[in-house]
Amino acid sequence: MLRTHTCGELRIADVNKEVTLCGWVQRIRDKGGMIWIDLRDRYGVTQLIFNEQGTSPEILEKIRKMGREFVIKSSGKVIERFSKNDKIPTGDIEIEVSQIEALNSSKVPPFIIEDETDGGDDLRMKYRYLDLRRSIVRKNLELRHKMMQETRRYLDGQQFIEVETPVLIKSTPEGARDFVVPSRMNKGEFYALPQSPQTFKQLLMVSGFDRYFQIVKCFRDEDLRADRQPEFTQIDCEMSFVEREDILQMFEGLIRHLFKSVKGIELETVDRMSYEDAMKYYGSDKPDTRFEMRFTELNDVAQGKGFNVFDSAELVVGIVAKGYAEYSRKQVDALTEFVKKPQIGAKGLVYVKYNADGSLKSSVDKFYSQDDLKTWADKMEAKPGDLMLVLSGEKNHTRNALNELRLKLGTDLGLRDKKAYKALWILDFPLLEWDEESQRYHAMHHPFTSASPEQLALLDSEPGKVKANAYDMVINGVEVGGGSIRIHDRGIQQKMFKALGFNEDEARKQFGFLMDAFEYGAPPHGGIAYGFDRLCSLFGGSESIRDYIAFPKNNSGRDVMIDSPSAISKGQLDELGLALKG
Ligand code: AMO
Repeated sequence: MLRTHTCGELRIADVNKEVTLCGWVQRIRDKGGMIWIDLRDRYGVTQLIFNEQGTSPEILEKIRKMGREFVIKSSGKVIERFSKNDKIPTGDIEIEVSQIEALNSSKVPPFIIEDETDGGDDLRMKYRYLDLRRSIVRKNLELRHKMMQETRRYLDGQQFIEVETPVLIKSTPEGARDFVVPSRMNKGEFYALPQSPQTFKQLLMVSGFDRYFQIVKCFRDEDLRADRQPEFTQIDCEMSFVEREDILQMFEGLIRHLFKSVKGIELETVDRMSYEDAMKYYGSDKPDTRFEMRFTELNDVAQGKGFNVFDSAELVVGIVAKGYAEYSRKQVDALTEFVKKPQIGAKGLVYVKYNADGSLKSSVDKFYSQDDLKTWADKMEAKPGDLMLVLSGEKNHTRNALNELRLKLGTDLGLRDKKAYKALWILDFPLLEWDEESQRYHAMHHPFTSASPEQLALLDSEPGKVKANAYDMVINGVEVGGGSIRIHDRGIQQKMFKALGFNEDEARKQFGFLMDAFEYGAPPHGGIAYGFDRLCSLFGGSESIRDYIAFPKNNSGRDVMIDSPSAISKGQLDELGLALKG
């Protein structure tokens, strides 16, 4: 080893030791007479000190040629610091240097490599290898590492076997577009990158593996957001001979283990909510239940009083902001502007202030008496001092808009504490979802998801009403995982493909291998996949999963560091049979 210690290791007990450290120059301060260098590596920062009088001219010359981010090796004696720094663990000591050597030079870095940096997003991504030297970025990856190890520890302890499945496969229907890879040896044909290892993990159950997991890259060509990357990582799991309850227990166990081992948090009970209730009371299938503010439907008390906007609406629904009757006109106007933004698309917002003196003041006083408004308040369980906010319109659209308003209020009113964690299972999703555009049903989870047994009969008559044996885990309003009990019977799988509008030929072509496998003794099975990057960002307290990925893509799906995607040569295109004719 070139060094005896790391830059994060030395303490007061090491005083008088002769040591050698290696690292990067974070900062040099030359105060004429004294020179200090902050030397940094993955483990921390240690201060080197040079007294000009006691230092040889050659060493001084070497130091004066050094700059930020030079890689150096330095030897000397550990001494107690005169003025201590209680902000860093090595702050009680420094190294009185007797030898120093530059192992490599560095250009002036394009941004400051410290927690507070002057580098914008694009610049930091272009030089991501420098960004990763910053301790806050490195700590995110250390968290990711810890979570990965603890995931493996838990699943290994539960007899799960980690199996790798192929990356060059054919389309898996998880609902996004595929990334495809042209085949040179089979011109005109393409592999698809897996959107998930779904079909393979089911085949492993047919093979008798019983409990499988994989921490695995998945690829989806979809619009990117803070919680979506085109390539991301799942903790993908499958089990045989299980029912829904077994899966919920086992994987609640994984989440509990992660909270306990990584954050030292004992997670409260994981609540359960049906999809239907989630939509009715929160307008979302991933409600943030760190705060209440549940929806109250008001059709029966708000319609029929001559206010046409409500009378003609499919749904009138409201929420209560507890203690906010004092909101000024300006503040309420700002909320109205918020819901009218095109992304949210409400036409307007009705408010009712339940004043401390018991009187009620609303934006629709023309149509509603004090008694009417009191009925609303009672129904919404509002108290004097509260502010009621009501939206109306088409059901799904209105629920969606009120969900956005609820989340905004939750944020504005400080109800979404980053250090509080509230996990819940969403259960009983619909099996199928009608798609207006293609005029057909889509699988809400994926086509291998089974219906609850008693619901199967409905598949022919009322497919839209069938409930799936599927579940999502939601933590603090983030969908962190989802899965289902699968179909393991060829006939039922065929029926499912039919309900999804596949003809027999199409189904056979795309998924014949799976249906064939079902004819050789497929056990009942089910599973789940957690979004690993999302779990990391949730544990780390950041909105963006990019902060937890070493080399992420930007919002246009580009890696600006390696400049990808990029064009390929004509020769390569020819070889792949992709060159344009003519
Ligand atoms: P699903 O499609 O719900 O299920 O994905 C599982 C979890 O993966 C995460 N996730 C993503 N994370 C980052 N970027 C993305 N683009 C992205 N897309 C999804 C989410 C999600 O909950 N094969 C099934 C699982 C199963 O049935 O067992 C599947 O992939 O956190």
